[in-house]
Amino acid sequence: MLRDREGRPVGDWFDLHSHETGADVETRWDGRVPRITPTERFFVRNHTSAPVIDAGAWRLLVTGDGVQRETVWSLADLRRLTSVTVEAALECTGNGRRLFGDQQGTPRPGTPWRFGAIGVARWRGVPLSLLLDHAGLRRDAVQVTPVGLDDRYVVDGVDHGRVRRPLPFTKAVDDVLVALEMNGEPLAPDHGFPARLVVPGWVGIASIKWLGELRVTRTEVDSPWNTLWYRMHGDGWDGAAADLGRLPVKSVLDEHGSPTAGRPALLAGRAWAGEAAIDRVEVSTDGGGSWHRAELRGDNLVNAWTHWELSWTPDRAGDHEVRVRATDTTGRTQPDCAADNADGYLFDAVLRQRVHVAEPTD
Ligand code: MTE
Repeated sequence: MLRDREGRPVGDWFDLHSHETGADVETRWDGRVPRITPTERFFVRNHTSAPVIDAGAWRLLVTGDGVQRETVWSLADLRRLTSVTVEAALECTGNGRRLFGDQQGTPRPGTPWRFGAIGVARWRGVPLSLLLDHAGLRRDAVQVTPVGLDDRYVVDGVDHGRVRRPLPFTKAVDDVLVALEMNGEPLAPDHGFPARLVVPGWVGIASIKWLGELRVTRTEVDSPWNTLWYRMHGDGWDGAAADLGRLPVKSVLDEHGSPTAGRPALLAGRAWAGEAAIDRVEVSTDGGGSWHRAELRGDNLVNAWTHWELSWTPDRAGDHEVRVRATDTTGRTQPDCAADNADGYLFDAVLRQRVHVAEPTD
């Protein structure tokens, strides 16, 4: 049985990735993926480990020169505020990193996620904008930096401080949530209890867990989490183009049953995009020569995944390569090749998945 570094069983649904300090677990999907990811199957990405937080003593501070008064919130205070529920995906920036090697022949270092560092949950909490308003947000504030209460992050003897990452003001006051619940329950310790940020449609690192402080500033500040890491590095990456925020459009084939030559089979999967819904999904079973439009099924919400299906009658037995290509409602289409970068972030290329087709037996 797989166990994480604290010795806890990881379970059948997970692949454990050892990381130099934390425990990262990836969801291993087996067939059709539910619209909402059950919390116990949701991937975990921790830089160190989940801190033990006493909910009664816990406080969230809103600080900085971007607010007129510093404010302090207890969990009970936050629970009394107007709450909203948002269905949104949380996806690690490095989700699919393994594919840089497997599909593009350029392996990149870091946690070798396949495509399981993503889940969709129902998040309930308080709009960040409400907390900022309570503190008297100044009109010239430019950033909000959420700070986590997990251990300071130390790599090779260098102390990088608490996990934190600046968020531009425009996003902070748009649709960001200080979430207290995930799928109808208080946040689990690994997912940020008692409060975390949920930044819909953005790289997972923006959604800081175990919130302790929200620093609002009138000048731009950096942190290692937007300069050293979670930024595009390598040839050709420079300036604003290297900043990571909004997630691209992606899709995957999850299910194909056991197809037989000459008989209809059902291909099914998911597509998702940051800050957009899905416009269309196309599937090629002949190496990209021809593309067939799949049917979208169920909800198609901005920032959450939508399911797709396509009937396919393979003309021969043997291995086939299935490619899936999604386009989002803002007109972005998946490229054939993901933009290379030193840390293997944002693998968004059209996936090439192998499907075996059996000979008919009668
Ligand atoms: N927040 C803190 N305080 N510490 C962390 O290690 N990891 C980030 C983000 N927030 C992290 C954090 C990363 S890289 C991701 S992908 C998401 O949390 C993962 O959230 P999850 O573990 O709830 O799936």
